[in-house]
Amino acid sequence: MQSAVIAPSILSANFARLGEEVDNVLAAGADWVHFDVMDNHYVPNLTIGPLVCEALRKHGVTAPIDVHLMVEPVDRIVPDFAQAGASLISFHPEASRHVHRTIQLIKAEGCLAGLVLNPATPLEVLDYVLEDLDMVLLMSVNPGFGGQAFIPSTLDKLRQVRARIDAIGKPIRLEIDGGVKPENIGAIAAAGADTFVAGSAIFGKPDYRAVVDAMRSEIAR
Ligand code: DX5
Ligand code: ZN
Repeated sequence: MQSAVIAPSILSANFARLGEEVDNVLAAGADWVHFDVMDNHYVPNLTIGPLVCEALRKHGVTAPIDVHLMVEPVDRIVPDFAQAGASLISFHPEASRHVHRTIQLIKAEGCLAGLVLNPATPLEVLDYVLEDLDMVLLMSVNPGFGGQAFIPSTLDKLRQVRARIDAIGKPIRLEIDGGVKPENIGAIAAAGADTFVAGSAIFGKPDYRAVVDAMRSEIAR
């Protein structure tokens, strides 16, 4: 398994001072910036686009920006995010007519490619494409909003995806997104996740470093 990555979701940050929020959470020990893009079509919420990603780069953010596209159709926006400074781009198979083509597009644009599975999406979507992926993102809530409760059946799904990744022996990351907090991150890590998104658990608290440290020590247990 690869080293643990903590990727705070800026969905729960204060957007009125986003640059400062991102600086603070990275200074507190976070590894990546998780960037939730919602289109009021694929999901019933509307958030941020490539301009904001580019603004974070211009602000001086050098950490990987982990773009989670909840956008349909997805292909048209991929080059814009690559140019805006995205490091990884993940998308939902339901939002792409041709999943293999979208993966290749993301890579051709110079980014790492991730595929996102909703709580009810079967693992079969990984058939034939897992080897092409840099990351699998398992949603542990239904996409669209921060602050929801972790769906417990995701733990079993994590174990199954971990076994599939280990079986092919490639350094594919396994990311978990939704309802992750210090109280459950140990069990989530034990089930096989190595990349942890957390929004409300971090940005909802006054001391970001205390939360990030608590998460790391639970992962290491
Ligand atoms: C939900 C987003 C998540 C969300 C996580 O659609 O993909 O990244 O912001 O927020 P929390 O950690 O609050 O569940
Ligand atoms: Zn997300």
